[in-house]
Amino acid sequence: MGSWNTSIKFGIDLIDRDHRRLFDLIDAIQDEASKDTPDPEVIQGILRELREYANYHFKREESLMLASDYDAEAFNPHRIEHEYFETMVRSVDVLYRIDEHLINVDKLMDILREWLITHIGIVDRAYVKTVHDFCRKFKS
Ligand SMILES: [Fe+2]
Repeated sequence: MGSWNTSIKFGIDLIDRDHRRLFDLIDAIQDEASKDTPDPEVIQGILRELREYANYHFKREESLMLASDYDAEAFNPHRIEHEYFETMVRSVDVLYRIDEHLINVDKLMDILREWLITHIGIVDRAYVKTVHDFCRKFKS
C-alpha cells in the first residue's frame, strides 16, 4: 500500500510535514480498524483530526499558491480537488458516527491514501517550483 515517501517530498518543509501528517492519520485509523476489537471512539477521534488537519493544510497550500502568484488557471481546479477530499473525509466521519457498521472505514482510507498520492504527485507537484522560488526570496 502506498504511503508518504521521498518521491513525493518537495523540499518545502512545512508542506512535506503536513503531507506526512495526513498519511500518519490515515495509518492510525487503519491500525485501529484492523484490531480484533476496534474502539469506535478512537477512530472517531482520529477521523475528526484528519478532517481538521486536511482543512488546515489545504488552506496553507492555497495561501502559499496565492501569495506566490501561482498560475490562476491552475488554482481553481486545485482548490476543487481539495474540496473533494474534504467532502470525502466529512462523509466518512458523519457515516461512521451514525453507525460504524455502515461503512468499511479501512477500505475508504485506502481510497483516500491513493487519492493523496496522486494529488501530491501530480497536482501539488505543479506548484513546487513557483512556491519554492517564492519562499527562497524571503530566506536569503
Ligand atoms: Fe494540494
